[in-house]
Amino acid sequence: MRAAEISAWVSLRIGDLASVAGCKGEYSDPPGDSQNVAILGRLGYINNLCGNDRLARRRPVVAIDGPAGSGKTTTAKLVAERLGFIHLDTGAMYRAVTLKVLRSGIDLSDLEEITGLLESTRVSLEAGEQRARILLDGEDVTAEIRSPEVTRLVSRVSSLRPVREAMVREQRRMGRDGGIVLEGRDIGTVVFPDAEVKIFLSADLDERVRRRLAELSTQGMSASAGELRREIQERDRMDSTREQSPLRRATDAIELDTSRLSVEEQVQLVTEHVRAMIKEEGQ
Ligand code: DC
Repeated sequence: MRAAEISAWVSLRIGDLASVAGCKGEYSDPPGDSQNVAILGRLGYINNLCGNDRLARRRPVVAIDGPAGSGKTTTAKLVAERLGFIHLDTGAMYRAVTLKVLRSGIDLSDLEEITGLLESTRVSLEAGEQRARILLDGEDVTAEIRSPEVTRLVSRVSSLRPVREAMVREQRRMGRDGGIVLEGRDIGTVVFPDAEVKIFLSADLDERVRRRLAELSTQGMSASAGELRREIQERDRMDSTREQSPLRRATDAIELDTSRLSVEEQVQLVTEHVRAMIKEEGQ
């Protein structure tokens, strides 16, 4: 077994692992070191335990990472639709938590308070027409998480260790059965380092600013190009230099510069790549 394979599994807890393997029943954290159990599971122990080969037949995880405005959401949503996969916008999860932090007025340096806040926070996503609907503790915050206040603070909130740990745990839980396209900054490097397909999207800064302006205008909002440009650059800087899971291309990711691609072209390229991979695996 490769070291990378082990590392992808060690952080799963026994409850997660058991449901990956298709067992029924309630599980709680084991008293000992659950990491060893996770490794055993990957080695076949849990399969024997449950008499089930679902791990071997799992549908792929597609990881799409890249900076703001590189086309991740549009691509991930359409690729997921064409493949019949779930689409998970992990940036929206960080935005929802940021909104909760903003509303609570908690000081970002108080990690204990932040941890407590996360324990009483529920972020869920529901399929929507244009975009998934984001629920924060049951309240629809789909529009509010795109506000300038949230956008300004989200890079700082998402760099906090307790926030990352909680979000990554949840994302792994949602993606454990495969058949999912996750988009974000650290999907191919941290959340699913063993994802079957890894894509890193990039685009020129000018093009990314143009796209953000167009997106804002469809939402009836406006901004100055210069301001947006500075904001995107600052977000890029914070997302790629932070200590916890910085934005970077996984060494085994395919890089796709979308600056001069149409939406249809980029969606087609990624979809075809996933289909080819599935075909290859099936042979
Ligand atoms: O994709 P987006 O612009 O909505 O993401 C908002 C912020 O969330 C982004 O600036 C960094 C953070 N983020 C992250 O740290 N890790 C992810 N997997 C996704 C987003």
